[in-house]
Amino acid sequence: MADLLEEQRESWGTRGGFILAAVGSAVGLGNLWGFPYKLYSYGGGAFLIPYILGLAVVGFPLLILEFSLGHYTQRAAPDAFKHGHKKFEMVGWWGIVLGFVIITYYPVILAYCFSFLWYSIQGIIGNGDLPWAGEGLEGVDKAKSFFFDNYLGYTEGTSLGAIRWNIVLPLLIAWVCMYFCIFKGVNLVGKIVWLTVPLPWLMLLILTIRGLTLEGSMQGLAYYLDPTWSELAKPETWRYAFGQVFFSLSLAFGVMITYSSFLHRKSDINNNALIITISDFATSFIAGLAVFATLGAMAFVTQQEGNAVGVENVAQTGPSLAFVAFPYALAQLPYSAWFSLVFFFTLITLGIDSAFSITESVLASIVDKTGWPRAIVLPVISLIGIGFGFIYITEGGLNWLGIVDGFVNGTRGIMFLGLMEAIVLGWLWRLSILRRHANSRSDWNLGRWWDFAIRLVIPIILGTLFFWQLFEDINNEEGFLRSPDGKWNAPNCVGVGILIAAPLISFIFSFIKSKHNDNTTAATTDDLPVKGRFIGLVSFLVAVVTSVFFIISMKSENSSINLAGFSALAIGGIAATVLSMYVLEKYDSGNCRTSWFARWAGIFGIMEISAFFARFLYEKSAAVTNAEAETVRSHELTGVSYAILVVVFLIIIGGLGWCFYRAIAAASKDEAEQHPDEVGDEPKELKW
Ligand code: PFF
Repeated sequence: MADLLEEQRESWGTRGGFILAAVGSAVGLGNLWGFPYKLYSYGGGAFLIPYILGLAVVGFPLLILEFSLGHYTQRAAPDAFKHGHKKFEMVGWWGIVLGFVIITYYPVILAYCFSFLWYSIQGIIGNGDLPWAGEGLEGVDKAKSFFFDNYLGYTEGTSLGAIRWNIVLPLLIAWVCMYFCIFKGVNLVGKIVWLTVPLPWLMLLILTIRGLTLEGSMQGLAYYLDPTWSELAKPETWRYAFGQVFFSLSLAFGVMITYSSFLHRKSDINNNALIITISDFATSFIAGLAVFATLGAMAFVTQQEGNAVGVENVAQTGPSLAFVAFPYALAQLPYSAWFSLVFFFTLITLGIDSAFSITESVLASIVDKTGWPRAIVLPVISLIGIGFGFIYITEGGLNWLGIVDGFVNGTRGIMFLGLMEAIVLGWLWRLSILRRHANSRSDWNLGRWWDFAIRLVIPIILGTLFFWQLFEDINNEEGFLRSPDGKWNAPNCVGVGILIAAPLISFIFSFIKSKHNDNTTAATTDDLPVKGRFIGLVSFLVAVVTSVFFIISMKSENSSINLAGFSALAIGGIAATVLSMYVLEKYDSGNCRTSWFARWAGIFGIMEISAFFARFLYEKSAAVTNAEAETVRSHELTGVSYAILVVVFLIIIGGLGWCFYRAIAAASKDEAEQHPDEVGDEPKELKW
């Protein structure tokens, strides 16, 4: 272990470099179109509840988990997981493979941005007109047709069609930019992000101020913020909110593990994670203000001209928000070409550091594992990425981009992997090592709540969402993979194919011989005495018996047997979880090993609890979706919207203020007191 900690690994240079790089990865295209669009579509201000909850309860604790794992092991994701146990390595690769899927399409969106940047420049050089500019509802059609017909040559359906040669050059430009940002290693990245993070913030601020000072902006904000509470009863709202948390914080793709593996040995973990979480949220929220204020102003202009275009006419999907609605809205306003230039340049600077963060994590994982030179691995990854990118620059490419994105970033993809991460590190590793490690160098200490979040709360939430999705897929009347009349559903088959291929490829990768011979930790191997076997065995049996009873009871026609089985699932789950938690709490941080029975009983128990909740919610949500009510949007900001604005700004300003205060307070303390560097110490806060 000592060798590992003292190894000279390349580093970010400064704490700021790391924070900005991680913020750069987190803050991306997802913030400017993903978040505002999802918020608008799933309940307006009400969406903030699942989103903030997701950030606080799942996103932030997982970010700390990833930072501490990367920092502790000083390895990119696969080797970092392998450090726990050889068998865990696959979990690391899994995220890398899914990340790789993202870098096949994310640069394609950057390519669109490069093209639209070029059109804006042409507008500036020419007579100031943008090629999609038009008025009223006809103008909307013109903007739509410019993006979908002229630019994408878009065709509906699942066939790919011809390659759009006009997008090839922009795609190559996107990849060349990414290449040059990372080819020299993270030290250079740490410098580039001083430009690619503050610059889009500045431009977002310009767009927000401009939007808010235009007449009619408030009606746009009403669309954005006025809550539709009934949306909270829909499963999609929760799934999209949690999915957006994962995507936005770049969680479970191995990026944050890799980035923190390059972090200086004495650097903070906990406070950095909080700063990054809040900054990411702030960017999303403010991006939404910019987008909807501008759309509101657009609606106002068109109303004045007697050819009204409502916000709902243009804000339909993520891509059309960025490449139809916003361009159209800007075209209605003075200096449109200039502001369009600012907008697309903002998108590029937002997206580029997210895109190269994934490439870097794939690259570092391969380099760490094989020892092959970066100078060879990076061009190979880039060429493969460009090759796959051609799929999405075809006439049907945007459809496939949406399909693949939906699977990878949804409950079945990345959130399932987040569940695996929490289970592996929470139940099969010694979580206390990571907490101790994080606390030993952070501005403030994590309490026991973090262990509970990783072991219980996160797996139960993600497990529930996963099973809920599973029940829906299984009971899908149209057939999820194949319809009752025998027709295959191509998008779902491809999506599921990717999701099944990811663990298989990861499994194969985990057999590649590593350049490093890291010892695994005492969590799984040593010759320490095993404790808690009896209670572990009992709880394991409880979990197995109740699960079997549940499955058998489901086959019965008798509703009271069904109910008994369902109740057994909950009772068995709770009993197994509580007992194994007790064993883990008692033995896991001492000089002994915790029985595997207890560990697996805990995992089993959590799955039972999740399945119970999921079943319950599935039945409830089926009722809600059937009786779906039409949402009526108001055109004026209500008192509740103002209250939401105030609360959100208080969270952002108060949260960041607190983080900076803690950082300054810690920096002014005695160094020695602040960083007891030994990892093998007893945890600071063992007591309840
Ligand atoms: N967080 C980025 C965004 O919000 O656009 C996207 C992203 C970057 C996802 C890196 C995943 C990742 F590993």
